[in-house]
Amino acid sequence: MKVLVTGGAGYIGSHTTLCLLEEGHEVVVFDNLVNSSLESMRRVQDLAGRTVEFVEGDLLDASAVASVFSGASFDAVIHFAGLKAVGESVADPLRYYRTNVVGTLNLLDGMNAAGVRRLVFSSSATVYGASEDVPLPESLPLNATNPYGRTKEQIEDILTDISSADERWSIGLLRYFNPAGAHSSGRIGEDPRGIPNNLVPFVAQVAVGRHKAVMVFGNDYPTPDGTGIRDYIHVMDLAEGHLAALHFLKDRTGAFQWNLGTGQGSSVLEVIEAFSTVVSKKIPYEFAPRRKGDAALSYADASSARNQLRWTAKRDLARMCADHWNWQRSNPRGYDSSL
Ligand code: NAD
Ligand code: UFG
Repeated sequence: MKVLVTGGAGYIGSHTTLCLLEEGHEVVVFDNLVNSSLESMRRVQDLAGRTVEFVEGDLLDASAVASVFSGASFDAVIHFAGLKAVGESVADPLRYYRTNVVGTLNLLDGMNAAGVRRLVFSSSATVYGASEDVPLPESLPLNATNPYGRTKEQIEDILTDISSADERWSIGLLRYFNPAGAHSSGRIGEDPRGIPNNLVPFVAQVAVGRHKAVMVFGNDYPTPDGTGIRDYIHVMDLAEGHLAALHFLKDRTGAFQWNLGTGQGSSVLEVIEAFSTVVSKKIPYEFAPRRKGDAALSYADASSARNQLRWTAKRDLARMCADHWNWQRSNPRGYDSSL
């Protein structure tokens, strides 16, 4: 297949691009590099031993989007591009709605005009809001609690509506749980700008000495050790989930939702413990107040993806921490380390 990958230079996009190349697909990446670097693309090409066509462009530039489609005939699009920081979305909602929602509309216009109607979209478990009805099934009502989450919910609605209006569309809405880890080579991984908000990259930066201790947000949740529980999923499992979705959509039309999670929850303390084991030293942590808006627990009912996509997550938390660490210690300053 010839696949357009928006946001393909980013964390999940780069791992998925590698899997696509390894499966023999032709890939064009469209990314404005607002949260990524070209170095990830160089390394993906090295690992795959194949080239990726890279187009630097912004989804908000409708003519740039149209011109990507004018020169090529794509079989499918995987749409990762967007902004993803919850706190930033609360502070600057317009930027989030514009980039995520308007950016997606421009992409859909480009696809429609070119007659490309197979799409896999990066949604998020954040659409379930504060629901703790675990394991969370896809059938739950959507109830995002912040602007970032609402952009995902709105895009899901738009995609469902276009597939109802025009039966030629085939669309996969992938609701990721908590991505972590890196490719086993340690050459590509997550490269957050500034201080990471998410637990695993923060723990990794404590392990590498960039911060003194992990702040554990809340130890009074109604969970066995009092800390928040999440469904951490290895980024390579996630990447493989995209290929499974593309294959499923090949002979079907309609809009489908799938949770991509392991179905297993791990607490903050369990993550810190797993990481400590990998680095063979204690990772210092301190208890801090709960972070506003955090649910006590969230993990996936992963049965739809298992039954329909024949996909399950294969890598466990120990492997996620080991691979994350392998990437972090070989690239202590992310992709900048090699510049
Ligand atoms: P990322 O920031 O590493 O990747 C996103 C990519 O999109 C970046 O390379 C960025 O430069 C690009 N981009 C942003 N705005 C753009 C624009 N206007 N035009 C073109 N390119 C643009 O993020 P990620 O972790 O790889 O996430 C990928 C997708 O998955 C996002 O849509 C995100 O919301 C979603 N998601 C991520 C997580 C997570 O925890 N990482 C969880 C659930 C869902
Ligand atoms: N946590 C800490 N200390 C930290 C960071 C996080 O204790 O420094 C805790 C949180 O309170 C939570 C757990 O670790 O209990 C996981 O927090 P993350 O920030 O890593 O992940 P979230 O579940 O809050 O959210 C992430 C993304 C969202 C996405 C969601 C589901 O940030 O955008 O996963 O995919 F929607």
